[in-house]
Amino acid sequence: MNNKRKQTKSIERLIETAVEAQKRAYCPYSRYPVGAAVLTETGRVFAGCNVENASYGLAMCAERVAIYHAVTSGHRAIAAVAVVGAAAKPCGACRQVMYEFSTKDTPLYLVDLNPSTGRRSINKTTVFKMLPMAFDPLASGLLPENPRNLLNRKTSGRGRTKNARTRARRK
Ligand code: THU
Repeated sequence: MNNKRKQTKSIERLIETAVEAQKRAYCPYSRYPVGAAVLTETGRVFAGCNVENASYGLAMCAERVAIYHAVTSGHRAIAAVAVVGAAAKPCGACRQVMYEFSTKDTPLYLVDLNPSTGRRSINKTTVFKMLPMAFDPLASGLLPENPRNLLNRKTSGRGRTKNARTRARRK
């Protein structure tokens, strides 16, 4: 399979994963199901759906669930994101979270799925275009390098860093 074909296949897989994730949305309050999926540079795909709560403000968007799913599994370099819903567009918070692990070209597929006809329309944009003048981890001087490449600090004991353990012992 040539590269272009491989790319198309992985985007199709990404979108199908988001479509499936939307079916698992827990949204009895809003009745607005959203599915998301993240393709990593390592070729893995991670899904997310929105998860609501009786305490309304605790609802978590599908996009953030998908990103956190990828990061928790050790994949920070995001190659593409897909979001599925009725006229779905990532909220501001999700745009900022996606930005953290994207590059200026990371594509974002907005998949509008009409629940009654099952018809899909797909809009391709980029994570950066969706968040102009973003709060940038590098420009702000908060990080020395792109979070995608940032190495984990060594942890030992119960997940605390060595320094945190030393501090805890000193107290
Ligand atoms: N929601 C998402 O999951 N993603 C978005 O991009 C926008 C909103 C969810 C949050 C809540 O569960 C429901 O949609 C209605 O706001």
